[in-house]
Amino acid sequence: MKDFGSDKKSVIQSNLDAQKIAFAPVMFQAAKSLRNLGILEYIFDHSKASIETIASALNLPVYGVKVLLEAGLSLEMVYLRDNEFILTKTGYFILRDKMTNINMDFTQDVNYLAINHLEESIVNGKPEGLKELGNWPNVYMGLSELPEKIKKSWFDFDHFYSDHTFPEILPILFASNPKNIMDVGGNTGKFALQCAKYDPTVKITILDLPGQTKMAQKNIIENNLKDRIFTKDINLLDDSNTLPKDFDIIWMSQFIDCFSLEEIEKIFHKAHDAMAENTSFYILEAFWDLQKFQSSSYILHATSLYFTAVANGNSQMFHSKDILKIIGKVGFVIDEIHETVGVSHTLIKCKKKAL
Ligand SMILES: C[S@@+](CC[C@H](N)C(=O)[O-])C[C@H]1O[C@@H](n2cnc3c(N)ncnc32)[C@H](O)[C@@H]1O
Repeated sequence: MKDFGSDKKSVIQSNLDAQKIAFAPVMFQAAKSLRNLGILEYIFDHSKASIETIASALNLPVYGVKVLLEAGLSLEMVYLRDNEFILTKTGYFILRDKMTNINMDFTQDVNYLAINHLEESIVNGKPEGLKELGNWPNVYMGLSELPEKIKKSWFDFDHFYSDHTFPEILPILFASNPKNIMDVGGNTGKFALQCAKYDPTVKITILDLPGQTKMAQKNIIENNLKDRIFTKDINLLDDSNTLPKDFDIIWMSQFIDCFSLEEIEKIFHKAHDAMAENTSFYILEAFWDLQKFQSSSYILHATSLYFTAVANGNSQMFHSKDILKIIGKVGFVIDEIHETVGVSHTLIKCKKKAL
């Protein structure tokens, strides 16, 4: 008999969990249909409802409502009392929780077809699923060209997690009264705009691929901040590119997870070369080992697979030790670490090691 060591889960529970995995894509679609067709909303609004009532109110076939709600019983999204369905807390999360909805839409719109290419992506070290979205070497080259619905789901997912960090981050960053901030991978300029509004004199330069700086430019102009927020097109995978000098802060938020460990080491060297003694280098990332809740590490492990099959084939959401090792190797010292910023992030502040 095989010894399962510290696996204390019962056989019955293990079998059930295995079936949840075996049918995960099927049951995901059931949950999404219960949400999108308005069935969860109807039950929530009326506290409880029968199949026939829901079908008639939503103008759906009784058969369809029946199979979905029966799947909902196994998904523990609803329960039955006297022939009427009532929402569970899980059902309520699927209906109303913003993070759950953003994750579901990201799974459906960005990943659902692409993740079917995960095995090939692992074997080839390439994002083989990306062809389901478009013809680019990595997702960042195509972000601005994604079809509208897919683009919205991608940006909602990306922004949701970093947006929640802003209120905590800004007082930390501005405590040293920076005059010039370099936002590497600054995307559509959300963070730069927040900085400019927080401090009326600070100047920010966004560095990103051309598709993204173009979107940022539009937002900068709309916010009348052309004189304080600048953009620079750069591909940091090009070894000949360097980072500009003379910044008080170099900022990388949810950026290094777009690269392999070897690429991150090269990018950190570029940051090191661009820094003066008093420059602060901040890294904001969600590390899967530093999460308080199991649901957070689950999200991060799943997100890693998006990087494998869709984004670029070689990056992931990291274990903190992976990154701390490179920080030391490149020649930085850690000045501060702020754990659990926003939903799931850690903020690391580095300085150049004194010679
Ligand atoms: C996951 S987004 C993070 C955006 C933003 N900093 C945030 O915290 O929400 C990563 C950003 O890095 C940029 N990026 C990815 N690869 C890049 C490269 N090779 N050179 C420059 N920017 C790159 C992407 O275009 C994207 O805007």
